Amino acid sequence: MISIHDPKIIIALDFKDEASTMALVDQLEPQLCRLKVGKELFVRCGPALVKKLIDKGFDVFLDLKFHDIPNTVAAACQAAADMGVWMVNIHASGGRKMMQYAREAIEKSEHQPLLIGVTILTSLNRQDIAEVGLDIEPAEQVLRLAKLANESGLDGVVCSPLEVTELKQQIGSDFCLVTPGVRPAGSNIGDQQRVMTPSQALLAGSDYLVIGRPITQSNKPLEALKNILLECNML
Ligand code: C5P
Repeated sequence: MISIHDPKIIIALDFKDEASTMALVDQLEPQLCRLKVGKELFVRCGPALVKKLIDKGFDVFLDLKFHDIPNTVAAACQAAADMGVWMVNIHASGGRKMMQYAREAIEKSEHQPLLIGVTILTSLNRQDIAEVGLDIEPAEQVLRLAKLANESGLDGVVCSPLEVTELKQQIGSDFCLVTPGVRPAGSNIGDQQRVMTPSQALLAGSDYLVIGRPITQSNKPLEALKNILLECNML
């Protein structure tokens, strides 16, 4: 069996129910990829499905982007850690104290997931953030929040592949960068705006690539995954 020591591809399980999720997951191999469970799937299927994925041997990124008062976020992160997930994320704009509390809560847990920050959502442009009172270029705010996340003890941030080079330079190579907005050459970019291919994103310094539809909507998902791994010289 082919096995990758540290699978770099995180497949976004953007499904509505357990049956369609498992129809895909049953074709995948935990030695080749990790899985991301987001808000919709979690709200519909809950911790039981996350547990099922973990029991099948997959590392799970619980993408719930917590943002609340420090105590509440810390408790939610501890619950995620207790569930045994591999990665969990919180909004860096929740502030230093919220991030520090989350870090401390995770450290008290038996399982210690990677704790990742969300900076400025890529769906927001200059005007959108001005409307909520941030009179600043989005890229500048991303860097500010990423630095604050690093100082507050987070392991890294989610960012666009186009922000990777700058963030690695400014914060350091150990700061983990998780990048959606990745499309294999020749595939449909869908609603993503600014994309890089998997190999370009890894070359720029992305640590993990979040890829959804190019794999989940493929007729042959395992083959689609393997083609991406081959393109990146990871198979
Ligand atoms: O199908 P696709 O490859 O576009 O899926 C990307 C995944 O990454 C989705 O789950 C999407 O919600 C998530 N994501 C994103 N852009 C961000 C943050 C998260 O595409 N800035």
